[in-house]
Amino acid sequence: MNKILFFLFAFSLYSWAQGQNPLAIPPVLSGTEIELNLQPGSVQFYGGEATATMGANGDILGPTLILQQGDFVQFTVNNQLEDTTTLHWHGMHVSAENDGGPHTTIPPGTSWTPSFTILDKAATYWYHPHLHKKTDKHVSKGIAGLILVKDSEEAQLPLPRTYGVDDFPLVIQTKDFDANNQIVVHSNSDDVIMVNATLDPFLSVPAQVVRFRVLNGSSQRVFNLGLSNNQTFYQIASDGGLLAEPYETTRLRLGPGERAELLVDFSGMEGQTPYLKSYASELPNGFYGATYPGMGPGLQMAGYNPNPLNGSDFNILQFQVGVPTTDPVTAVPASLVEVTPLSESDVNETRSLTFTPEVLGPNQLNGQFLINDAFFDMEVINVTVPLDNVEIWELTNFSGIAHPFHIHDVQFYILTRDGVAPPVNEQGRKDVVLVRPMETVRFITKFEDFADDAVPYMYHCHMLTHEDGGMMGQFVVVGPTAVDETAAETAISVYPNPSKGWLSVELEAGLSPERVWVYDQLGRQVPVSISKTEHALEIEGLRNGIFYLYLQLPQGLQVQKIIAY
Ligand code: C2O
Ligand code: CU
Ligand code: CU
Repeated sequence: MNKILFFLFAFSLYSWAQGQNPLAIPPVLSGTEIELNLQPGSVQFYGGEATATMGANGDILGPTLILQQGDFVQFTVNNQLEDTTTLHWHGMHVSAENDGGPHTTIPPGTSWTPSFTILDKAATYWYHPHLHKKTDKHVSKGIAGLILVKDSEEAQLPLPRTYGVDDFPLVIQTKDFDANNQIVVHSNSDDVIMVNATLDPFLSVPAQVVRFRVLNGSSQRVFNLGLSNNQTFYQIASDGGLLAEPYETTRLRLGPGERAELLVDFSGMEGQTPYLKSYASELPNGFYGATYPGMGPGLQMAGYNPNPLNGSDFNILQFQVGVPTTDPVTAVPASLVEVTPLSESDVNETRSLTFTPEVLGPNQLNGQFLINDAFFDMEVINVTVPLDNVEIWELTNFSGIAHPFHIHDVQFYILTRDGVAPPVNEQGRKDVVLVRPMETVRFITKFEDFADDAVPYMYHCHMLTHEDGGMMGQFVVVGPTAVDETAAETAISVYPNPSKGWLSVELEAGLSPERVWVYDQLGRQVPVSISKTEHALEIEGLRNGIFYLYLQLPQGLQVQKIIAY
């Protein structure tokens, strides 16, 4: 080996080991008017060809939005991409129209202008595109950003909160690059780690208590976070809010879409350079990121092995501990906020969702996954939820791989994992839960404030390959205002409405409809069984959804909207 080559080799080893690029910190947008330009970009990640990317207000990723609870915020989202896309506020409680799901498309060259009041609790949320079958493409190519909601409760706690000084965003992602340095979508060969779109990053941190807002923004990979010196750190917030008290740990498993706010105490560590790592060797099989993505070597996934990240411990970010700031936070608070989960005694409805592989057997990880035996269909509303319902959703994973289940509109509380209360750090507000193979997870939530019988919300697996492949369903939340529209002019009365599969249509004496039909929202006739008694029609066999009951009466056609759940 000649000397120059040796030097280059030694240098590259050294720089690989040291972290060679300063961590990019996304700029901040705050206030009540936010403009995001979704645009194509280009980043020189490697020598040779630049990587084609997508970003918000830049080449890749997007600004961190800092929003204040109670503010009414007007957004302008300009789509300057060549693709149609959407923009979703992951974890935030907004109306279905403002949610940015797959129905709320933004064609190229147009703008979308949602506006809403920030109702959420202080926590770390995020935004990303959500076009059906294209979510992975738009996210993997780079569109994603954090949303930090602030509230008065959080403001009173002695926590670090100076962005970029003692409070840092960490968007952790793995990606697959092809031989021409281009990002490969729907790939199981994601062997490149980046934080805030920085390869091989380092971050200078002050020698004091520092806060990290961590998003697993990967398409599929689960991380098992820890520090290289095995020091303890503290989780203070889960997806949608602060925990009751800091959760002390040396490891934190984080699935795609999940967020965690962490405190690390670097006091007295000036000059040290610990790493944030993923201890993936400790992940049991059955997680994407473990040695085997399914429950054992019998279940293989195309492109997954070999991948140096799977089942091994790897560095994510190097910390270079420097001098403390002039007004450092030096202690981790003993308690945080009051967390009051919903009570099971208030539950109106329990729903069961099953996850199954499309293909059974050893090849199952290469197929797609179904929820309740169905793939996502833009035209089918899978679940109809009456406004203000308190519900338990029971998720059972009958497949060999863990799925990070996510639901829009609400934050939920995990009641049990296989019948047992979850660990303390999962007892706060969540919007993503990793459901292990053959596990049943039960959560409780309340569908409040927003009803819309036309625009649905989504629930889905946040492994974007699975989501794009159809592991998604949609629900509408329906309220009294949505039902009353036609009630005034009808000579008939229908009850109960919303109804649970059956209805009674009361008829005035002597009134006899010549014909009765039920149509769904797309105008398709729905088979139901109708029986007539003296003063009523009994209708049975409605599945979940919104329907229109047509009655041909002597005085004309009567239409009644029906909500079945
Ligand atoms: Cu993070 Cu439906 O999405
Ligand atoms: Cu979401
Ligand atoms: Cu999945």
